[in-house]
Amino acid sequence: MIAVFLGPPGAGKGTQAAKLAAKYGTPHVSTGDMLRDAVAAGSDLGLRVRSIMDAGELVDDVTMGEVIRTRLAQPDAAGGVILDGYPRNSGQAEFLDSLLAGTSHRGVDLALQLSVPEQYLVDRLSQRRACPQCNAGYHLAYKMPSVQGVCDLCQAPLMQREDDREDVVRERLRVYQEATAPLVEYYENKGILRAIDGVGSIEAVFDRADTAMGQAVRA
Ligand code: AP5
Repeated sequence: MIAVFLGPPGAGKGTQAAKLAAKYGTPHVSTGDMLRDAVAAGSDLGLRVRSIMDAGELVDDVTMGEVIRTRLAQPDAAGGVILDGYPRNSGQAEFLDSLLAGTSHRGVDLALQLSVPEQYLVDRLSQRRACPQCNAGYHLAYKMPSVQGVCDLCQAPLMQREDDREDVVRERLRVYQEATAPLVEYYENKGILRAIDGVGSIEAVFDRADTAMGQAVRA
């Protein structure tokens, strides 16, 4: 099963992808997490993408193509993956199709579109906290850690992402509308789009995503 998540910044893609990955035993591949890990490690890739990410812009397609090609070639991806943050525009969607055409998967099986009105997104992102060590995500009101400011999973101090500042969030939303939103039609035309209402508790949204995933797995 190759599933991709679509949705604006803060829609809950990472939250739901992690929960589905745990339930189905499928790797959660987040390109945002991979890039943030590269930045934290100070690698060549990290040094190249840091300012682009902090400004809320997209990293170029050639760089991202290499990132995703390398990740999908890992043995744990052979049985499928849940992609969160890739593809981000039509060029990336076509590149992914060409990459998968040469594998047993042949193509994307399911595109899950999380729909959340903009008024919720700024609230979710401004109060998000993330673990810089294991990438676990939290929210100051909706998903609090057991100990304030500390990751439940690895006990690292939680941080606010650089790109969760309000001015950068506005730019990320603009970039989403311009570059990524057209992918809804791309996957609709392939007959594999499932639109999910992303408003409600994390568990309520998970029930909807899980239903869509379960139907696609059985199809
Ligand atoms: P990326 O990390 O992919 O960021 P994003 O798409 O903007 O998505 P977010 O991680 O902000 O939001 P999310 O939808 O995952 O929400 P979450 O579950 O965390 O990319 C970052 C940057 O990397 C890009 O801007 C770009 O520069 C670069 N990049 C990455 N991939 C790229 C690519 N393919 N091409 C080019 N550049 C690329 O939830 C948000 C908050 O809400 C959390 O606090 C969570 O706890 C809370 N929450 C979740 N669900 C609910 C709910 N139902 N109710 C209440 N709160 C909720």
